[in-house]
This record gives sequence, C-alpha cells and structure tokens, in this order.
Amino acid sequence: MANNMRYFIGNWKMFGVPKSINILDKINTFTNFNKRFNKNYKIIITPPFTLIESFAKRFKNKSIFIGGQNCYHKDSFGSNTGSISPFMLKKIGATYVIIGHSDNRAEGDTAKMLKNKVIGSLNNNLKIVFCIGENKKEKKKKLTYKVLRNQLTKVLEKKFNYNNIIIAYEPIWSIGTGKIPKSEDLKKISKFIKKILKGIFKTKKPPKVLYGGSVDGSNIASFKSLKEIDGFLIGGASKSSKKFIDIIKNYYR
Ligand code: PGA
Repeated sequence: MANNMRYFIGNWKMFGVPKSINILDKINTFTNFNKRFNKNYKIIITPPFTLIESFAKRFKNKSIFIGGQNCYHKDSFGSNTGSISPFMLKKIGATYVIIGHSDNRAEGDTAKMLKNKVIGSLNNNLKIVFCIGENKKEKKKKLTYKVLRNQLTKVLEKKFNYNNIIIAYEPIWSIGTGKIPKSEDLKKISKFIKKILKGIFKTKKPPKVLYGGSVDGSNIASFKSLKEIDGFLIGGASKSSKKFIDIIKNYYR
C-alpha cells in the first residue's frame, strides 16, 4: 500500500478566515516530518475563494496544494455577478478545482454546466476533482449504478485530458451524516466507476477514484484494505489540523 499514491483532499466549504492558515501550517509541518517515512500521498486543501490567493502564496512549492471548491461555467471574464471563472482561479495560484459537489448540484448545477466547468478548468490547466454520488432515495431504489453512470457519461468525454481528472465518489446520504458505505459496496462501486471511466476515455489506466462522506480519524482504518480507493475527500474533519492529521496517521498505521 505504501507505494500507491493516495490523495487527502480537505474541502473547507464555507469555513475559514485569514488566520485559519495556521491549520495548514500545522499540516505542512506534519507532512514534512512524515515524508521521511516515505509515504506517498498528496494533500490538497480547498478553502473558500477569499483565501485561495494567500494560501497558495504561502504553500507554493510546499507539500500542500490549493484548489477552488467550484468555478463558474463560463471561462475568462464575463458579466456574471458574484462568479469566479477557472481562468481567475488559475491566476491566483489554484492548481485544483472541485466540480459537481452535491451542494452545487442541489443549487442548480446541470450536466451541461458541469461539462462547461470541466472544459474551462482543463483549458486553464487546473486539475479537476469531479464529484458524483447517489442520494438516499436513489440508493433505496437500487439506482446507484445508473445514477453514477449518468453523472459520468453526461459530463466526461473521450477528448478530455483524463490525466487531469480525479473522481470523488460521495454518496449524498453519507455527507456530514457519520454514515459510510459498507466496504464490500464501496469496493464494487469503485470498480464500477473505473470500468465506466475506462470506457469513456478508452484507456486501461483510468482516473483515480476517491471516496468522500463522513471520513474521520476513526473510520479511516476501514478503508485501508480497499486498494480501489485512491484517496479521500474530507469535509468536516479537514477544518481541524489534528483531525486531518489523524486521518493520515491512522490510514498508514
Ligand atoms: P464530510 O463532507 O466529510 O463532512 O461528510 C464531505 C464533502 O462534502 O466533501
């Protein structure tokens, strides 16, 4: 396991003020120390737009990458009040962007908008964390696979540079609820997602697939044996350096 690259992505959502950079300082100190143990992982933090530039400056060439939590579905500049384009994100030092988080889908993001966000972000050389996931009702009706297939095939296209795309499987019923999928379900679902991705991109080496939803320092151990899961998208527990570090520590313990 030690040699497989793993992602630990912290999605801060609507959290953080300038002094919250302390949290990242502590995580950075931990990873610099931890590097000696040859662990192969990448840390990405997505603070709100207001903090991206200062965080990206501080952690330039360091072991933490900074990304946006969303972007507008038109690139460059426009007359869209309150919106931030992929071009603007890139210019302030973001290297990643989350697209399709269920919060934003719930607020009206359609497949067409998501596709435009992906295109705009790839054009600006941002790496994409594309979120997919079924809700509780869909799970109950056994529609999970159908929903995931649709979410992937309606947005992703063969011509996209899949080296810059990461998928985050986040079942909506698990986000912020303390509930996580059964290991055997997660194994099957991540295999299924990789199969769909292989088909879309016509490749044997599909994008990485992460899991997100209520990941914390105590349940992380249950994901260790799942070699299909290439990392984690962490919400609540990423707002505390201790909780975030505990996740990494306990994953490699
Ligand atoms: P959670 O959030 O870890 O607080 O469940 C995950 C997410 O929404 O990305």
